[in-house]
This record gives sequence, C-alpha cells and structure tokens, in this order.
Amino acid sequence: MCGIVGYIGDKDVYPILIQGLQRLEYRGYDSAGLAIYNDTLQVFKCKGRVSDLEKHVAEENISGQIGIGHTRWATHGEPNDRNAHPHTSMNGDFVLVHNGIIENYAELKSDLQKKGYTFQSDTDTEVLVNLIEYFYRNAEDVTAEIAVRLALSKVVGAYGIVVICKNEKDQLIAARKGSPLVIGIGKGEYFIASDATPIVNYTDSVIYLNDHDVAIINKGSITLKTVENNPVAFKITKVDMTIGDLEKGDFEHFMLKEIFEQPKTIEDTFRGRINPEHTEIVLGGLLDVLPKILKARRIIIIGCGTSWHAALVGEYLIEEYARIPVEVEYASEFRYRNPILNSEDVVIAISQSGETADTLAALRMAKERGATILGVCNVVGSSIARETDGGVYTHAGVEIGVASTKAFTAQVTIMTLFALKLAKENGRISSGLYLDLIKELSEIPEKVKSILVKHPHIKEVAAKYKDAINALYLGRGALFPVALEGALKLKEISYIHAEGYAAGEMKHGPIALVDDNLPVIVVAAKDHYYEKIVSNIQEVKARKGNIIAVVTEGDTGLTSMVNDLFEIPKSHPAVSPLLAIIPLQLFSYYIAVMRGCDVDQPRNLAKSVTVE
Ligand code: F6R
Repeated sequence: MCGIVGYIGDKDVYPILIQGLQRLEYRGYDSAGLAIYNDTLQVFKCKGRVSDLEKHVAEENISGQIGIGHTRWATHGEPNDRNAHPHTSMNGDFVLVHNGIIENYAELKSDLQKKGYTFQSDTDTEVLVNLIEYFYRNAEDVTAEIAVRLALSKVVGAYGIVVICKNEKDQLIAARKGSPLVIGIGKGEYFIASDATPIVNYTDSVIYLNDHDVAIINKGSITLKTVENNPVAFKITKVDMTIGDLEKGDFEHFMLKEIFEQPKTIEDTFRGRINPEHTEIVLGGLLDVLPKILKARRIIIIGCGTSWHAALVGEYLIEEYARIPVEVEYASEFRYRNPILNSEDVVIAISQSGETADTLAALRMAKERGATILGVCNVVGSSIARETDGGVYTHAGVEIGVASTKAFTAQVTIMTLFALKLAKENGRISSGLYLDLIKELSEIPEKVKSILVKHPHIKEVAAKYKDAINALYLGRGALFPVALEGALKLKEISYIHAEGYAAGEMKHGPIALVDDNLPVIVVAAKDHYYEKIVSNIQEVKARKGNIIAVVTEGDTGLTSMVNDLFEIPKSHPAVSPLLAIIPLQLFSYYIAVMRGCDVDQPRNLAKSVTVE
C-alpha cells in the first residue's frame, strides 16, 4: 500500500522516478507525486494515476539527480492534490514520502499546532515531516539525520519513509518500521523503493531494510543505524527478477498474462521439490523444523484474502492425508483475539507479498507465545520470509495484477506438496497413493494448458452473465475454498456482488437469493462429494437459478441440469482445486473487461496491504 521510490546518483532522476512509480502503481493509485532536488526543491503532485502526474509536469523544466516519488493508497485524508505525497514541512526544510500509518498523529499534530505549526493537508504524513523540521530547528547541533531519528522515536505506527533535507544536499534518509523498503546499490548511486521492481533495471544488488533501520545515503556511501543511533551491519543480496517479468508482453492486462502463466508457475513451484524420478518430495526450507511439525499439537495457517483461501485448501489436504489437526484463521482476527498458543503449535503464514501487515503482526504474536512460525511467501526477501523459522517460497514470479491468480495456484501447490510430505513422513499415506499423487501433481501444468485453450468458450459464457448484479458460488470439500476464491475474483475486479458458500450451507439462508436472475456457479468436479453437490444443483434449478457448473470432462450427467459448463480434465480430488479455479479466474476476467473495469487496478484496492 503506497509505493515509494527514491534515487541519488549522477543520472537524470525524473525518468527513474516515473518508471519506478509505474512499477509500483499496483500498491496504490489514488494520487502520485515527486520531489526533485537541484538547487531548489521542486515538488509536483496530483490526484490520480502516474500518467496524470506525467501530464501534470509535461510543461515543466525538471532536472536533477536526487529525488523521491510516491504513489498513494489513501488512509488519512481523501484522495486529492493536497493529500498527495510528497509532503513539505511548513518552512520548507524537508520533503518526505511515506508508506504506513502514524497512529498517534492527532496528538503530535496538536502539539505542533501549539508550537505554531500549520498544516496544508489532512494526512498523518504531514505531521511527521513537520515534527522532523521542528527538531531540526529547535535543538542545538541537530543534523537532518538526528532530526529524523528524534521524530521517529516519538512516532507510534508504521512507516517506510524517504526524506530530503533542503540544507543537506546530496543526501537521502530512509527509514523503515512495518512498511518495506529496499535499497538498490549501483556504482556511486543508490535506488530506494518499496520493492525491488523499480530497481531491477539498474542493479541486482540490494539491501532489505529491517524494522527500526535508518539509512543515511549519500552519493558514494551508505550507513545504516537504528533509530537509537546504534550501528547496523547490512547484508547485500541478489534479486532474482528480470525486466520481462515486469512487462505485459502481448497480453492486454497483467491479470490475463498471469492467468496464462500458470502452467509454468505451477511447474516452477514444484520443480526442485519433486525429485527427477517423481518418487520423493523435498522441501528444503522445512528440513530443520520438520520434526517439530510432525509432533505439532496442531498447525494453524493464517493469511488474508486469496492467501486465506489457499490456507483452507491446505487444511482439507493436511487433515485428509497427514491426519494432523489444522485450523485456518484470518490473520486480522487471530492477532487480536488472544488465541491459546504454545511451543507445541506450528503457525504457517501464507502471503504472496510477505508484507501484509495483519499476517506479519499475527506471526510475531505467535512467535512471542512460543509457536514455531513458518512462511509460504512469493516475494523473496520479504518481511515474513525473513522473520520465520523456516518456509517455502512459491516461485510464482512477480505478480502485478492486483487480483491474485498465479500466486494462489502456487500457494495451493505448496499446500499440496506440504500435505503429502507430512503424510509420507508420519506414515499416514500408502506408498502407492503418495506416488500417484506426485504424478497427478506433475501432470497439472499440461491440464491447466488444456483449460486455458478453451478461453473463447469461457468468454462467451461470461458475455451472458456480464450484467449480473449478484452471483453465488458453491463448492464442497477442498473445492469450497475454490468457490470462495471464484467469488472474490468476480467481486474485486467486476464489482458484481458475489458470495462463496459451502454448498451444504445454501439451504440455511443463501437459497433465498435464488431466482431467474441469479447466476449460481457450482464447482462440481467428480469427487466423493459429487452426489451431494448434484442435489444442490437440483435445488437451485428448481428455483430457476442460472447454473454455471465446473465439471469433470466426460461428466454428461449434469448437462441437462445446468445452463453452462466449464470442463476441467479428470484428476484426483487432491489436485482438482488447481484446475477448478482456472475457468473461474478467466470468467471473472472477461466479465470485468466487458464491464469496462480496470482489471489490473480495481477501485479502492491495492496489492500488498501494509496497513491494517
Ligand atoms: C485478492 C488478493 C488479496 C490478497 C490479500 C493477501 O485477489 O490479492 O485478497 O490475497 O491481500 O495478500 P498477501 O498474499 O500478499 O498477504
């Protein structure tokens, strides 16, 4: 949420900032702005997208080699020009971009107002920049760095910030607590960003800032210290990302590109985790903690949104095959509800970004209470990945579309591998079934391809339902989370109200919604719940609902009962969630496009929710 970019070096900074903001736009797109330091500090900002900012500055003569930029997802203050970042301090000494929330901003603001400070915006960020200036102007021998540290020591909340001080040329100060910041290291130049995507054009060497780090960055040097002024040693790591990963190629949207990438991303996720003979699953990142997991009193999987849906699939599979008790929790609830936890529990956080504020906070709480904490993350080097005792990367590659698609199937792939690995280790699965399921998983990429080629049919069906006002998604067993995920995809990108339900719950309320206007999407692949879900289909049909069913190829039994069918190849029920979600992703995508929605950047949303 909110993207930050910064540069200091010998290059012309404007194109670096603009391109960086474009790359980070998925983190928020309510407003955009930048500040460039030449002999003076120039600040440009406006409501809207990065393209609006480009138009806004088109006539300006901008040059400079030091600058900062921001793309905003509004928290405090509506999206408008005034509330756009960067924010400048009252006397113009400092300019700052911020990602996060200053929770005690009201108290700090009122203190500053008593000292004569006035404010131009409604943001918490403007309070911080003025607090920095206040310390800078009102204490002896205070440099910009000291002023930043003093101000941060008063702040409650989360921040990733980059600051320029007008009087200390050739310097940027960056700091992090709760909101991610990465520093790219070039030759005599530094790049700062919320993630590595704006940096990979220039360098693959990066430093990931940790919470409480303050970085003092000059043209040829960088120093890290804590807010309390203790030195911090840093580690330079290599980012594994290519520029091609960040471009749409021939696809109209990133979401479509990412849907079509899934045969490859699912394979990338299990490649190296299944041995070449297809007889063994190896999860290197869990080796040290495997004995603890196998002895766990229970496994608790936490996540938000789509990642929570992948966790639910994990619950079905782990309990079915490994017979270890599993609970799935919304991270936002778990962190606040005083759960009973101890050292016999294993808590697994699933997160594409590895930065979701609630998931990270829930994980930290679990660690404090003695649980073993593990991560299933997509973004390498992300906070969750770094703070856990072990984990597995999903290797889905950069996901730019705000609606998660390939990250979901990668997470489900990891959940499947994990369930089978545990089942094998604790002797709960027969060798025959274990080998069969490894084979089934390895066949998934080809089967996904065979669904993707049917996209023209899915598009035709989408055209029939594009004007729906509501939609109901039903599933059972491990396909129930697929129904939830299908509904989430539709609502977030097309703004059609959609609900996912366990099909057996339909009679307990949602059936009241069914009439001849309601599309009911039923995930009805062949598994041991099949007969039950057929009964649910009949109940909907009896009430004239429009049924779209996801069925197993060759299942002709449902043809006369339903309005439309999406076929998926035959597979074992353990792996069918990976197939059943594909037509539902495409269905949502086409509906959203036909409704003229901004598929990659749906309204009000942002990827990587770094505020709670
Ligand atoms: C939906 C979506 C969100 C995320 C959720 C968690 O398409 O993308 O629901 O799944 O915000 O994000 P991560 O996985 O980054 O923790």
